[in-house]
Amino acid sequence: MMNAKPILLGVNIDHVATLRQARYRQVDRTCGRTIEPDPVFLALLAERAGADGITVHLREDRRHIQEDDVRRLRESMATRLNLEMACTPEMVDYALQLGPESVCLVPEGRDEVTTEGGLDVAGQKERVREVIHAMQGAGITTSLFIEADLAQIEVAGELGGPWIELHTGSYANAYHSDRRRSEFDRLCEGSEQAHRAGLTVNAGHGVNYVNIAEVRTLPHLHELNIGHSIICRSLSTGMEAAVREMKTRMGGAGAGGIA
Ligand code: PXP
Repeated sequence: MMNAKPILLGVNIDHVATLRQARYRQVDRTCGRTIEPDPVFLALLAERAGADGITVHLREDRRHIQEDDVRRLRESMATRLNLEMACTPEMVDYALQLGPESVCLVPEGRDEVTTEGGLDVAGQKERVREVIHAMQGAGITTSLFIEADLAQIEVAGELGGPWIELHTGSYANAYHSDRRRSEFDRLCEGSEQAHRAGLTVNAGHGVNYVNIAEVRTLPHLHELNIGHSIICRSLSTGMEAAVREMKTRMGGAGAGGIA
């Protein structure tokens, strides 16, 4: 079943900061003042090209996005800011002060290259409930980044967090193998279950310009958060063209963007 409504695109700009931090970790300016590449500048280009929101993950080890990036984004962007964060008291306080439109609770491991696996909401139900409640009080929507696992989705439904983000990483990794079909079926079942439980279904991780043809057919899909593939494509085409092409492939041809 195709989605009746256009799927929204959240552009994750973490890896613009990864590139910057690879060279300029120790300095706060270069001779041109702004340190390149500037994730905020690239985020604004993504918005101009039709991104419906910007996602950043402020990690505990600050390996890519810095607090100053988030502050400047909050001041200058025009769409929705989605803050990916660990479920820690420090990050909850930070989010409440920042006031993003949404937060996405993710697991965080120091040794991982990128977010690996979904959040175990079943194993820390009360903690997650407290965070959802605190965010609700501040008008911030909470999304739970979880595997398409029936038990996790059931708990997400009980917690009443209005959004989940299904982890598409295993599917993306299996795309060129004979596990692709079963991984995709698992995502579809998870999406149906979440929808029945009244949850809004987002998805992300490993979505690219090829697998989007299938990912976009996931039932009830509200929003995709895509980072790595768009940032990589932008190196050759520029950010605006990279975002427009993804929007077109998502089925949103004619996306206007911000004037
Ligand atoms: N959604 C979440 C919760 C993530 O942690 C990430 C990776 O930072 C993404 C989406 C985007 O994944 P990718 O960079 O593979 O598109």
